[in-house]
Amino acid sequence: MSVILGIESSCDETGVGVVREGELLGDCLSSSMDEHKRFGGVVPEVAARAHLQAMVPTVHAALDDAGLGLADIDAVAVTAGPGLATALQVGVASAKAYALSLGVPLLGVHHLAGHVAADTLVHGPLPAESIGLIVSGGHTSLLQLQDLATDPIIHLGDTADDAAGEAFDKVARLLDLGYPGGPAIQRAAENGDPDAIAFPRPTTGRFGFSFSGLKTAVARWVKRHEGPLPVADLAASFQEAVVDVLMSKAVDACTSHGIGTLVIAGGVAANARLRKVAEQRCAEADITLRIPPPRLCTDNGAMIAAVGDLLVSAEAKWSALDMTTDPSAPLTSAAISCTH
Ligand code: KG4
Ligand code: ZN
Repeated sequence: MSVILGIESSCDETGVGVVREGELLGDCLSSSMDEHKRFGGVVPEVAARAHLQAMVPTVHAALDDAGLGLADIDAVAVTAGPGLATALQVGVASAKAYALSLGVPLLGVHHLAGHVAADTLVHGPLPAESIGLIVSGGHTSLLQLQDLATDPIIHLGDTADDAAGEAFDKVARLLDLGYPGGPAIQRAAENGDPDAIAFPRPTTGRFGFSFSGLKTAVARWVKRHEGPLPVADLAASFQEAVVDVLMSKAVDACTSHGIGTLVIAGGVAANARLRKVAEQRCAEADITLRIPPPRLCTDNGAMIAAVGDLLVSAEAKWSALDMTTDPSAPLTSAAISCTH
C-alpha cells in the first residue's frame, strides 16, 4: 500500500494531494488567481513566484489533512507538462527535492492525464475502454482511453484553435465579466435564455473542435448591437453553443466506437450546464457518464497523486532525477519523463 504525494503547479494553482490505492487521503490548494485578476489572465512570473512561496506550506497542509507526515510518503508524482514553463519548474524542482531527500521514486506525469485520473478518486477504476472529453483552459480533446497507466492515449479529435475554457475566458472579457471567465459566464447565464441568440456551432472534422469562430461571432454580435447589452442572454446562448458542440461530438465518439463510458474532465467540466446536458444526452444514448465533482475538475494536486498511484500500481518506470519540464507536452501517455 503506497502513499503517493502529488504536486501540481502548471498554472496558477499550487495543488498538493495525497493518495493511497485509489483513495484520496488529503489535499490542499493555494491559488494565486487573485494576483492575476487585474491583468485579465495568468502572468507566468507572478504565478511561479507564488508557487515558490506556497509550495512547502501546501505540502504540509495536505499531509496534515491526510493525518500523515513526510516519512509516510512512498513516491512523489509531479506535473512535468504541459503548462507555464517557470510555474512547472517550481513543482518539478520541489518534487525532486522531496523525492531525493526521502529516498523515494519520482514520477513525472502529464497534467491532462491527471484531469482524467481525478475521476478515479471518486468513481473508482476506469473500465477497460472509455472515451475521454478533456475540456480545460488550454486544451480540448476527445480521447480513446484504455488503461491510463500503461496504454497509449489515442486522440480522436482536438481543437483547431481556442480551447473551450479559453473561449469562456475570452467571451467573459468581452462581456466585462472578469477573470476567470468560466464561472463568471455560468453565473451570468443563470438568468439568461440559452435560445435567445443562435450562435454558430463551428467544428472541424467529425471529432474536432473550433471555438475561435464562436468567440468572433459573439464579438460581432456585441459590436452590431445598439443599447444596453443583454449580458445574461449572451452568456447563456454562448454557453449553450459550447455545451452543444462538446456533447454532440462526445456522444458521437462513444456510439460510433461502441464504447459505453464517457469521462468528462478539466476545468470546464465544472460547468453546471455542461454537467446537466451531459447527463441528459448520455442517458438518452445509454452511455455511462463519469464527471468528477467540480472541485476536482479544476486544477488540483489530488489528480496528479491519482496518476502517480496508477503508475506505481502498474509498476511503471520512475523518472530520472535529471528530468526537466515539457511546457507543451503532447498527450500520448500518462507518464512523461522529459530527460535529455
Ligand atoms: O483545467 P483548468 O483548471 O486549468 C487548465 O488546465 O487549463 O481549467 C481552467 C479553465 C478556465 O478557462 C476556466 O474559465 C474554466 O476552466 N472553468 C469553467 C468553469 N470553471 C472553470 N468554464 C466553464 N464553467 C465553469 N464553471
Ligand atoms: Zn488543468
